[in-house]
Amino acid sequence: MATTERSVDYSKRFDGKTAIVTGAASGIGLATAEMLIQDGGRVVAVDLDQAALDAARARLGERYVPVAVDLTHPDAAAYIVEGAGFAEILVNNVGIMDGFLPLTELDDATWDGVLAVNTTAMMRLCRAALPPMLKAGRGSIVNVSSEATFRTCAGIAYTVSKYAVNGLTKHIAALYAGLGVRCNAVAPGGVRTNVGSNFRSEMAAGRLWPIMAATAPEEAEPELLARAICFLADDHGAKYINGAIIPVDAGWSVV
Ligand SMILES: NC(=O)c1ccc[n+]([C@@H]2O[C@H](COP(=O)([O-])OP(=O)(O)OC[C@H]3O[C@@H](n4cnc5c(N)ncnc54)[C@H](O)[C@@H]3O)[C@@H](O)[C@H]2O)c1
Repeated sequence: MATTERSVDYSKRFDGKTAIVTGAASGIGLATAEMLIQDGGRVVAVDLDQAALDAARARLGERYVPVAVDLTHPDAAAYIVEGAGFAEILVNNVGIMDGFLPLTELDDATWDGVLAVNTTAMMRLCRAALPPMLKAGRGSIVNVSSEATFRTCAGIAYTVSKYAVNGLTKHIAALYAGLGVRCNAVAPGGVRTNVGSNFRSEMAAGRLWPIMAATAPEEAEPELLARAICFLADDHGAKYINGAIIPVDAGWSVV
């Protein structure tokens, strides 16, 4: 097979491109927004936290476009996509934890709240962002899943929500393959962010913590996740990657 492009100038790989990044005011989302901007892109940065969005905008400049919305609002996805202009990259990064609650201690509010953010908000944004991508014949969606889909290292609501993210990712990849749109996911191990990893269950702490402490590699800085997300978002290096759930965990999933 003939190869025409042998190298890529990374500092320009997102030149002229708009990316929607959710949860973009903290942790992995902020690091990803920063890398997309560094490499030429414009980022529609979606988050709840207005003060953190403003601080990032002051630091990153006008190609960081803050949009303060709660992604669980039913109209949020349409509002974001309509306001963004054509976004050929969507990084569905938003996510919250669940206190590691096992089924016997689970309350409906935790289940509903975690699925609303981690799964339903992602589905809605994919659903809103896809038609313009399909019309243009190009687009890349990167969803943020979790190590919790390879091993039990969270509560039941979070675990189920992230298995659903994997299903969403593979279904989109399968149905729109060949139409210029790719959809992949990263599954981070432990990352140093503000996500909150407090156990609200003594039982789960007793069962899970010793195993996690014995097997987990050192936590990653968010930038290491941003590198993997930007690789998948980029149509050069990842052009032939579609439907992949990539562990970004220093090998934790195989220990
Ligand atoms: N940190 C880890 O160890 C780890 C491990 C595996 C997976 N993940 C996943 O990585 C993703 C990013 O998490 P992080 O660790 O960077 O967390 P973080 O808490 O540092 O950042 C998440 C951001 O999402 C925003 N947010 C939360 N709910 C929102 C809502 N309803 N509407 C709009 N914005 C909202 C928060 O304000 C915050 O800025 C999540 O999907 C998380 O599940 C993280």
